[in-house]
Amino acid sequence: MSGQLRHFLRDDDLNHEEQRQVLELGMKFRQDRHYHTPFAGPQAVAVLFDKPSTRTRSSFSIGVAELGGYPLVIDQAGSQLGRGEPVDDTARVLTRMASAIVWRTFGQDRIEAMAANASVPVVNALTDLFHPCQILADFLTIAQFRGGVDALPGKTIAYLGDSANNMANSYLMGGATAGMHVRLAGPQGFLPDARIVEEAQALADRNDGSILVTTDPLEAASGADCIFTDTWVSMGEEAEYAIRSKPFWDYQVNERVMAAAKDDALFQHCLPAYRGKEVTASVIDGPQSVVWDEAENRLHAQKALLTWLIGQQSDDQTLLA
Ligand code: CP
Ligand code: NVA
Repeated sequence: MSGQLRHFLRDDDLNHEEQRQVLELGMKFRQDRHYHTPFAGPQAVAVLFDKPSTRTRSSFSIGVAELGGYPLVIDQAGSQLGRGEPVDDTARVLTRMASAIVWRTFGQDRIEAMAANASVPVVNALTDLFHPCQILADFLTIAQFRGGVDALPGKTIAYLGDSANNMANSYLMGGATAGMHVRLAGPQGFLPDARIVEEAQALADRNDGSILVTTDPLEAASGADCIFTDTWVSMGEEAEYAIRSKPFWDYQVNERVMAAAKDDALFQHCLPAYRGKEVTASVIDGPQSVVWDEAENRLHAQKALLTWLIGQQSDDQTLLA
């Protein structure tokens, strides 16, 4: 292999042009699920889970199979990682067998350690800090409904709720990479880390986007092209359920929030959703909601991402021509 080893550990591991290329490939996979089979051989892709999953598990498993490969899905309980084997050693083993490693885990430092010891692409399938594959699917969904990938720069996206979680961080970094106007609204104590906002701001400046972090939900939603939310209690935070049910009520996505956005604004949610909490049933089950397309787009976006990463490594640029 003469190309470059690339990982996707956080949204800004792809620059503006690379993100555009992956999303364009995603549109092609949307049109033809068997557009390309980079793993034909077949090669294995290790897909590891330290946390529960429905969409990520199914989209990577089915996606790898559709790319001609063999998904090797390993849960924490069934792996030596779950019994304390070092991440570095796990990486050294998997990298000798699999063509790529996909991992959902807790700390970002864990997936960074995996990548540091792997000679195949490593993909973040959600950490406490980022969920970058979800953002690719979400942007593919905007492209699907709003005139293609070239229509993404300049769009205004608003995320309401827990603005300190992995989804909020990924909207900041991914949206700034795309050249979008990214707005986050959440209560004090649940706003993004200043360092991430600073990094997103620098990216936004470079790509003609902008960043707004506010405690005012309607300021964020006003005139937005797409409204997003997520659970108020992320995986691993279950012990905080009682404290986390109170501060977010003003940030629930309901008809008042949707009325503040553009008339044709889309609603998206990474799922699983808790109706009556972060979003009302009237919105998520209503006419502006595109959450089922969004879930399907996990499949197309991740097939595109894996194809792109493998293409970089093998120096095969033909798909990007
Ligand atoms: N949105 C998402 O990542 O869903 P799962 O937790 O079901 O994979
Ligand atoms: N913020 C949520 C996203 C779930 C897909 C969590 O980490 O649980």
